[in-house]
Amino acid sequence: MTLRDGKRNIVLIGFMGCGKTTVGRHLATRLGFGFTDTDALIEARIGCSISEYFASQGEDAFRNVEHEVVAKVSSLANQVIATGGGAILREDNRALLSADNEVVWLTARPDVVVARTERRRGARPLLTSDEDPLERVLRILAIRGPLYQSIADVIIDTSDRPVHRAVGDIVRKCVVPFRSGDAKR
Ligand code: S3P
Repeated sequence: MTLRDGKRNIVLIGFMGCGKTTVGRHLATRLGFGFTDTDALIEARIGCSISEYFASQGEDAFRNVEHEVVAKVSSLANQVIATGGGAILREDNRALLSADNEVVWLTARPDVVVARTERRRGARPLLTSDEDPLERVLRILAIRGPLYQSIADVIIDTSDRPVHRAVGDIVRKCVVPFRSGDAKR
């Protein structure tokens, strides 16, 4: 499969609970691309869970490791790259992720994000606090929304879209269509 405009990878950005990992895995299979998850690479590098690292080293230290991983994965090709929800916070990460890559912003309504992240909240250090979950999501989204928007080539709302439909929509928007006759050229 060839991505439009000679793009090398599809990068999935978006808030926690918007389906980056789930959609990303299915999309990679559909395209015959590799699947890369920056959170998994970070955990392999730090040797513990992201929550443990946040607790012991703090968010700034986490963001530094995240930046190293983002720099590494941005030079890959033929990958679907799922990023952590805060990877777009740093300007240098936004530049790396958007250079030569198709950036797909997965969104979901805030109430859907709260419902989806309810069960595994312990694994998401930014959502563990005494603050009302919906207020917290809205507060973080208000800061991040414009940052996601600033590098998004395609926006897909996953709130009421089953995974296979989200994948189909991304393929339609990002992949050069195969025309009969191409094979003969
Ligand atoms: C974060 C999102 C998480 C993970 C870390 C920080 C964020 O990834 O990188 O807990 O700042 O939004 P997911 O978006 O995959 O949950």
